[in-house]
Amino acid sequence: MRSEEDVATETFEASDPVALFKSWLKEAEATEPNDANAMSVATVDNSGLPNVRVLLLKDVDVDGFVFYTNLKSAKGTELEASHRGALCFHWKSLRRQVRVRGDIELVSNKEADAYFATRPRGSQLGAWASHQSTEMESRDSLIEAVMELDKKYEGQDVPRPDHWSGFRLSPLSIEFWINREFRLHDRRMFQRKTPVDQWLTERLYP
Ligand SMILES: Cc1cc2nc3c(=O)[nH]c(=O)nc-3n(C[C@H](O)[C@H](O)[C@H](O)COP(=O)(O)O)c2cc1C
Repeated sequence: MRSEEDVATETFEASDPVALFKSWLKEAEATEPNDANAMSVATVDNSGLPNVRVLLLKDVDVDGFVFYTNLKSAKGTELEASHRGALCFHWKSLRRQVRVRGDIELVSNKEADAYFATRPRGSQLGAWASHQSTEMESRDSLIEAVMELDKKYEGQDVPRPDHWSGFRLSPLSIEFWINREFRLHDRRMFQRKTPVDQWLTERLYP
C-alpha cells in the first residue's frame, strides 16, 4: 500500500475531485473486506432534524453520485422536500474519509429502468414487496408478499416500481481526509457555488 505521504502529495496535486474520488474508491475496493461503495447519506426532515443511514453508491461521474432507494421511505420523502443532502465515505482499511455535499435530484426514468434491470430478480421483487420505513407486522408478511409477486411475474421481467428509483447528488463540496501521525491529518476541500463553476480548493486544519 502507498504511504500516507504519497497519498497526500497526490491529493494536494489533484485538480479534479471526482477523478480523485474514483481513484480512492478503486483502492478501497481492493482493500475493504466488503461494500467499499457504502456511504452514510444525510438528509434533513421537515422539522430540521438530521437523519442519516448507510446506502450503496451505484454510479459516480462528472454529473454526481447516484444511489437507489424507495421514494416513499423516510429518505425519499425528505429528499423530495429538501433536494439537498450529504454523503460520507469512511474506508477503515485506508484510514481515509471523503465528505460530499450538494443538491439532489431524481435520476431519469430511463436511467432507473436500466439499473433496475441489472438487479437480481429477488432484489427486484423485494423492491415491490418492501414498504420501506413503514411498520411491518412480521417478517412472514414480507416473505409471503415476495412469493406472491414471484408468481405474478412468473416467466416475465419484473418491471421497476414507480416508488423505486435513484437520486443523483450533484456535488458543491468534496473534502478529502487522510490519516496522519499525531492526529495532524491532511484535509483538502474542493468547493464551487454551482455545478457549472470551477472548483476552488484549500487546505483545512485537521
Ligand atoms: C451496507 C448497507 C447498504 C445499504 N444500501 C442501501 C441502498 O442502497 N438503498 C437503500 O434504500 N437502503 C440501503 N440500506 C438500508 C438503509 O441503511 C436504511 O435502513 C433504509 O434505506 C431505510 O432508510 P430510511 O428509513 O432513512 O429511508 C443499506 C444498509 C447498509 C447497512
